[in-house]
Amino acid sequence: MNGPALRIRGVLKVFDAETRPPVWRRILSNGVGPASKQVVAVDRVDLDVQRGEIFGVLGANGSGKSTLIRLVSTLLIPDGGEVRVFDHDVVAEEMVVKRLINRVSVEAAFFKKLSPMENLLYAARLYGLDAGEARRRIVEILGQLGIEARRVGEPLEKMSRGMQQKVAIARALLTAPMLLLLDEPTPGLDPRSQREVQQFILQVRARHNATVVLTTHDMDEADRLCDRIGIIDQGRLVAQDTPAGLKRLIAPEGEATLEDVFMQLTGRSLEEIEAESVVPAGIGG
Ligand SMILES: Nc1ncnc2c1ncn2[C@@H]1O[C@H](COP(=O)(O)OP(=O)(O)O)[C@@H](O)[C@H]1O
Ligand SMILES: [Mg+2]
Repeated sequence: MNGPALRIRGVLKVFDAETRPPVWRRILSNGVGPASKQVVAVDRVDLDVQRGEIFGVLGANGSGKSTLIRLVSTLLIPDGGEVRVFDHDVVAEEMVVKRLINRVSVEAAFFKKLSPMENLLYAARLYGLDAGEARRRIVEILGQLGIEARRVGEPLEKMSRGMQQKVAIARALLTAPMLLLLDEPTPGLDPRSQREVQQFILQVRARHNATVVLTTHDMDEADRLCDRIGIIDQGRLVAQDTPAGLKRLIAPEGEATLEDVFMQLTGRSLEEIEAESVVPAGIGG
C-alpha cells in the first residue's frame, strides 16, 4: 500500500448553533421563529498525513479539532469534501475505515471499579479477540506503558489520571490500529503524567509503526511531540508544516516560538481566543 495514511480534501462540517432552549425551538419551529444560526465547525480543510507521522492539530477551544477527528473516525458525516483513510473513503467504506482507526477521547468510558486487565479484557471481547491471545497482549502493552504487574489488578479509580489515560491508549492498541486518533490526550494531567503519556505516544509510533493524529491546545506539547503541526482557527487550517518550518515562516532568520507563529497566523493569542470563547471544553466527547 502506498499513499498517505490520511487524505482530507475540502472537508466541510456545519452545525446548527441552537441557543434557544428546546421548548422554544419546538414552538418556533413552524417557520415562525428566526432561522437557526449555523456554525461552520470545519471549513474546507485540506490535509495529508503520511504513514508513520505524528501530526498535531493545534487550535483553541471551539476551533474545530474534535469535529475534524470525529469526521475522520466516521462518527460524523461531512457536509462536503472527502476524507480517505489508507485510501478508503470514510463514508462509502465506513466499516473498512473503522477497522483501520482507533479514537481515544478525553473521557474514556471505563468501568472504574474494575482493573486495567478487566477493562481491557472486556474491550478485547467486544472486538472479538481470542481471550488467551488478548491476555498475553494486554500484559505486554501494559508493561510497555510502565504499569507494574502488581497494579494491573487494582481498580482503575485508584489510579492517577495519567495512568488511566495510558490504559485508554492501551485499549486502542489492542486492536493494532494503523491510524491512532488522540483527541486531546493530555489536558488535566500533571506535568509528569503528561510527559509519560507523550513518551508513550512516541513509543507507539516506533513499535507499532502507527500513524498518529492528535489534537492539542498545548503549544509545548505540539512542539515536542509532532513531526508536523496544522494550526486550526475557526474551522480553517491556516498553516501546516514542521515545528521548525512554521517558525521559519514568520522569522526566517531569528528566533520564534510556536506561540509567535500562532499569534501571527490567527491574529490573536490562544489565551485571547479561549477567553472570548463561550464553548465548553470537550463538547460532545
Ligand atoms: N454537535 C454539535 N452541535 C452543534 N455545534 C457543535 C457540535 N459540535 C461542535 N459544535 C461547534 O463546532 C465548533 C467546533 O467545535 P469542536 O470541534 O468541539 O472544537 P474543539 O474540539 O477545537 O474545541 C464549536 O463552535 C462548537 O460549538
Ligand atoms: Mg475538542
